[in-house]
Amino acid sequence: MTVKQIIRMGNPILYRQNQAVTEFNTPALDQLIADMFETMEALDGVGIAAPQIGEALTVTVFGFEKSQRYPNAPPVPKTVLINPVIEPLSEEKNDGWEGCLSIRSDEITLRGLVPRYTKLRYSGYDQQGNFFQREVADFHARLVQHEYDHLQGKLFPFRIEDMRYFGFEAEIAAIRESMDRSNGAGT
Ligand code: NI
Repeated sequence: MTVKQIIRMGNPILYRQNQAVTEFNTPALDQLIADMFETMEALDGVGIAAPQIGEALTVTVFGFEKSQRYPNAPPVPKTVLINPVIEPLSEEKNDGWEGCLSIRSDEITLRGLVPRYTKLRYSGYDQQGNFFQREVADFHARLVQHEYDHLQGKLFPFRIEDMRYFGFEAEIAAIRESMDRSNGAGT
């Protein structure tokens, strides 16, 4: 396993068309997934998509017990999700604060307030090629939508509706706190 360099916003690699995985249980796929977990965990991320380490495949991994970057988020099971499909289960959306491993450096983290569907069903394949589906809500649903977007060449700032709520984490901390108190947003 190797900690890979993260491709950051502005690099065209993040905006390429990604290919579906057609062969499972190959050394290349298993290596890619191991590297994605290793890289995500080294950076205290909660999810990562293959394009972020330069692989144009529809593979994402996510999940955590506890996250320093999202201290209020409930745990999400460690998941390998390949060739995903997402279906919202209602029209309801809520706002939450997001960051991204592709939009930070050691010194700087940018955050933005992003509306996402609150409840959805996702389906796809696990590392061994078994089909599975889950119905999820709230942070888990947000995380899946964020990672799914990476596979479509979209980053979270593309979805921010009010750009005043995009900025350096330290600068927007006060806004975040006041919103957390008023409406519970603040993933
Ligand atoms: Ni991201």
